[in-house]
Amino acid sequence: MNDLKKMKLKISSKKIKKRVEQIGLELSQEYEQENPIFIGVLNGSFMFLSDLIRALSIECEISFLQLKSYDGKKSTGSVDIIKDFDASLKNRHVVIVEDIIDTGTTLKFLLNKINEIPIKSIRIVTLLIRDIERPFEFTIDHIGFEISQEFVVGYGLDYNQKFRHLDSIYVLE
Ligand code: IMP
Ligand code: MG
Repeated sequence: MNDLKKMKLKISSKKIKKRVEQIGLELSQEYEQENPIFIGVLNGSFMFLSDLIRALSIECEISFLQLKSYDGKKSTGSVDIIKDFDASLKNRHVVIVEDIIDTGTTLKFLLNKINEIPIKSIRIVTLLIRDIERPFEFTIDHIGFEISQEFVVGYGLDYNQKFRHLDSIYVLE
């Protein structure tokens, strides 16, 4: 419980809700008449994905995969598949849902994996991105918020598996 006192509010649940609803509206327009499949990258994206799909006015399906690249506050540089997605992506409109894009290692790994499947289209949605210049090899279609170098927790994001349940985003000091 002591750790909870070391947190500084970064993005309130109210702000998150408003932004998620905007993205949901935009996606509903982009995929009008389609039935995209949303791929949530676990564990971090579970809360964002569940709010995002409830902000949609279109049909959709969901599937999850679980990847791990972080240990504590550090990126390990390699990505492990803990749980693979179980849906077929063949001939589907795919929407990747991430909690945060930092170095881009996780996403690059996932995109390489999906690259082998003949899909109809792909879009990338992330709740957070770090606002440093990174020459990503991919386009990010929807970004919730840009943050700086600080490590954040809450709304699905963890520090050593803790704090995912918080409904706002906090800087862990
Ligand atoms: P990347 O592979 O470096 O882009 O890192 C992406 C993954 O690292 C995210 O999906 C998160 O799970 C984790 N991550 C990166 N930064 C943070 C943070 O500030 N808080 C919690 N998790 C983070
Ligand atoms: Mg993640």
